[in-house]
Amino acid sequence: MKTKATTTERDRPAADAPEPRASEAAGADSRVLEARNVVISYSGNPAVKDVSLSIPRNRITALIGPSGCGKSTLLRAFNRMNDFIPSLTMTGQILYHGQDIYAHAVDPVEVRHNIGMVFQRPNPFPKSIADNIAWAPSLYGKLENRQALVEQALRKAALWDEVKDKLNDSGLALSGGQQQRLCIARALAMNPEVILLDEPCSALDPVATSRIEELLLELSERYTIVIVTHNMQQASRVSDITAFLYQGELIEMGPTERLFTRPKKKRTEAYITGKFG
Ligand SMILES: Nc1ncnc2c1ncn2[C@@H]1O[C@H](COP(=O)(O)OP(=O)(O)OP(=O)(O)O)[C@@H](O)[C@H]1O
Ligand SMILES: [Mg+2]
Repeated sequence: MKTKATTTERDRPAADAPEPRASEAAGADSRVLEARNVVISYSGNPAVKDVSLSIPRNRITALIGPSGCGKSTLLRAFNRMNDFIPSLTMTGQILYHGQDIYAHAVDPVEVRHNIGMVFQRPNPFPKSIADNIAWAPSLYGKLENRQALVEQALRKAALWDEVKDKLNDSGLALSGGQQQRLCIARALAMNPEVILLDEPCSALDPVATSRIEELLLELSERYTIVIVTHNMQQASRVSDITAFLYQGELIEMGPTERLFTRPKKKRTEAYITGKFG
């Protein structure tokens, strides 16, 4: 359903092609992330129930479903952000290029460098715009040329032209939409391969939302993107693949256009036609 010329040229999953199982939605070679039989519980109560799915490279995958169905919990599992929640337990595996990111030898900080995250509320550091970008690369010894890195990240996040004359102003002085693009720039500055976004537009107005959506379409040329969204129009505008979760279970996953026009499961149909949610 994407309309942008730059992205329609790419090799999209054909809407009418025979569809593989959800867990095989991406060819083995293009799988960047894979969840295998993932069960995630809070104080023993399961919030994600035996979910297996693959996230394909340089595509936008949307996770949709009603409030409380486990979207954020599953998303956070992909870069070990759940490690910070003491009551949470997880079984199953999350593989990044075939490696279990929860294996003992794996450094979660390194995982989060490769798999960055952008949150629902824009959360710039109370620092200058430039420092927001340069802080983590500097902390982790990845800062070679500060000026170039700041400019590149801001350009990639389509923010450069708006802030190039005030790089020393506080990031908190920007508008909400600009702050969210700053947070995307901050994630990009660590040179990740994957960007996870949890309802990145829900605090933004329609104009700022559409700028972020355009940006995501551009970024998907080079990055693998997973976006949680409540907004089905947004999922259909930006994503290539959609996964529908309901009460912690993966009900259906497939090419976005097919899922929204010809859902295979009754529950998906009921949700996308607004019968519940
Ligand atoms: N920190 C937590 N402690 C205890 N239970 C939690 C916690 N976070 C989420 N849950 C529970 O886990 C389930 C899934 O929550 P999650 O936030 O993943 O859903 P969601 O699909 O992202 O919802 P929303 O659309 O409202 O953001 C819910 O029942 C929720 O109450
Ligand atoms: Mg959520």
